[in-house]
Amino acid sequence: MSKTAVLLFILLSATAVTVPAAESEATVKARVDKLLSQMTLDEKIGQLAQVGGLAFLPDAPKPEEAIRKGQAGSILWVSDAARINKLQKMAMEETRLKIPLIFGLDVIHGYRTIFPMPLAMAASWDMGMIERVQAVAAREARASGISWTFAPMVDIARDPRWGRLVEGAGEDPYLGAAVARAQVRGFQGTDVSSPDRMLACAKHFAGYGAADGGRDYDSAYIPEEQMWNVYLPPFQAAREAGVATFMAAYMDLNDVPATGNRFLLQDVLRKAWKFDGFVVSDAFSVRDLTTHGFARDAKDAAFRAFTAGVNMDMASGVYQAHLAALVKEGKVPTATIDAAVRPILAAKFRLGLFEHPYVDEARAQRMVGAAEHRKAAREAAQRSAVLLRNEGGALPLAKDPAKTIAVIGPLGDAKRDLLTMWSGFDLDPSKTVTIVEGIRGKGARVEFAQGVQIAKTYSSMFDQMVGGPQPKAWTPEQADAEFRKAVELANRADVVVLAMGELALMSAELASQSSLEFPGRQRELMEAVAATGKPVVLVMVNGRPLNLVWASRHIPAILEVWHPGTEGGNAVADLLFGDANPGGKLPVSWPRDAGQIPIYYAHNLTHQPETAAGFQSRYWDQPSKPLYPFGHGLSYSKFAVSNLRLAAEAVKLGGTLEVMADVENTSSRDGDEVVQLYIHQKAGKASRPVRQLKGFERVALKASEKKTVRFTLGKAELSYWSGQDRAWIEETESFDLWVGTDSDARLHAGFRVVP
Ligand code: NOJ
Repeated sequence: MSKTAVLLFILLSATAVTVPAAESEATVKARVDKLLSQMTLDEKIGQLAQVGGLAFLPDAPKPEEAIRKGQAGSILWVSDAARINKLQKMAMEETRLKIPLIFGLDVIHGYRTIFPMPLAMAASWDMGMIERVQAVAAREARASGISWTFAPMVDIARDPRWGRLVEGAGEDPYLGAAVARAQVRGFQGTDVSSPDRMLACAKHFAGYGAADGGRDYDSAYIPEEQMWNVYLPPFQAAREAGVATFMAAYMDLNDVPATGNRFLLQDVLRKAWKFDGFVVSDAFSVRDLTTHGFARDAKDAAFRAFTAGVNMDMASGVYQAHLAALVKEGKVPTATIDAAVRPILAAKFRLGLFEHPYVDEARAQRMVGAAEHRKAAREAAQRSAVLLRNEGGALPLAKDPAKTIAVIGPLGDAKRDLLTMWSGFDLDPSKTVTIVEGIRGKGARVEFAQGVQIAKTYSSMFDQMVGGPQPKAWTPEQADAEFRKAVELANRADVVVLAMGELALMSAELASQSSLEFPGRQRELMEAVAATGKPVVLVMVNGRPLNLVWASRHIPAILEVWHPGTEGGNAVADLLFGDANPGGKLPVSWPRDAGQIPIYYAHNLTHQPETAAGFQSRYWDQPSKPLYPFGHGLSYSKFAVSNLRLAAEAVKLGGTLEVMADVENTSSRDGDEVVQLYIHQKAGKASRPVRQLKGFERVALKASEKKTVRFTLGKAELSYWSGQDRAWIEETESFDLWVGTDSDARLHAGFRVVP
């Protein structure tokens, strides 16, 4: 455990509020039965409604009114402790049965202390860290009255044009599953009645990351083989980790909207996985079944979503308006209403909301943004950074107060843009440490020039809602003058740190883009600054891979820090000066440009792989490989992985195989290496991917230290879902195995699965 982790642990244990021990499941069931027996149909339907605290639609019910009438089981988009207490008081004092509300919010990477964006945290390959920071997020949020987060977002995404890549764990189901488990553990802990924990929600169920063209909300067409082998495993992992709730996605999956999709909500979730928690729709997605051209009208939408298995209607008010009539007409049996309400009430009992409906506002004040939380955020940002290139040891920079460091670029002194869209609708970005501030904090002499202004061509509703005040656009003359100023600054500086990439709202919901080029004139500025001949380091602040082909040839050091969160600037400075050593690895293959999309390492072999003799299939205009492979990331230390050994050459069906390799820090600087294990099944009932990640470990190594890393391959790692058998199968076949430090790992061995 790191120092921060220990401190956090002590803090978490020391200040915990005492609550009664968690209810036993039998007690919860008895309490649910009793309460349900007292409820009218309208009261039951009220529990199935989640009401928005921000009025998006002119005709949306105001939460106060809905609460008083018993027409709200949950409230979303309210984040302030005082307002939460006020609304809760209405539920507890002005309704007949005094059923507390659950307040839900998108606490996806922090509540007030904002951690790196989720994709960045996946890039840490550090599951312990992810669990710890999501526990901090839960702690801040629950203290403020939010007992349900709409996270983890576990959608596999292989198209970086899709804006919501930023919210997930990238392209790989194995890494995605590990990250999903860590997040669920972090949010929920072992007892959600604890004042430091909250319910988690695995979203968006399922296949949302495969939207056509990377256009948000667009249809996804995913064959069942790919569904089970690629898109579902992180959800299944969340389920196995005990996630309390699921959220149905917006888009059509194979022509059926996920919110009305019985394959997803019944066959997979309830039957195959035996999920007994509750499902919430996405915002307005029940109503929007009509817009999709799936439901005839709002009543039909209520019928289809409800009977498909959506327990709670998020914000659209359609259940509230139509479910009672559907029951009266005999189309929806009361028993199914009861079945839908049960897990919602059970969750409220488990959370302890009936006993502790209110929060202590003073405690909430003390809790949010606590120094220990910021420390955790700084460490998380350090550990999430990926050093993509470091020619000639350009990094770390020497600490020399006599030298001038020029920070140049639109992200250099940005606060809001070090966070993401999902950083709270009412967030105060002034608490964010910018890159300039971080570097200055190291005692360095810093000058800053923005150089270019960047903006989206088309804005979305989120720009108005959470974008904050927009800077006035520069005139063309101003733009030229600012550009020149930046190049002049580079000329007089000793070192240049380019801080370039994307604004926060260029990623996330409603923020897809067609190209991977740097927005605005950033690339032009990058070239002009490089032409000065000064040592240049590129710090990337962005939510998705951008085209780095030119930079990867001309800028000696490229440090990917993503949207690094509240402590981003401090963490960047730690990394630039070597007070922290980068150890993150890409959770996505980094395309050369948008023309390569989709590109992912776990593709199948063709009949003529490029590596074989003969007429290989490839792009004739550029390499077929991505610019940086999945799993890539450098360090200021040097490592060697060697001595791969398998406990046996063959493993029996259903048995386990131990794999070991040594990893050595061959440098004089302490650092971390992520050792990764990939396999390939060479034949079988289906073509299997050329490589699949099946093990990894982030290992901390002191200078010259050597450790042995151990992996276990078992049934879970060696099976896949076969379209022929329509089942998970493990086959008696030969496998290749590689261990190394990215998905091009070279250390190779073979083994067989035998009867
Ligand atoms: C819509 C988004 O798709 C979902 O991820 C989010 O949780 C809800 N809105 C609530 O904010």
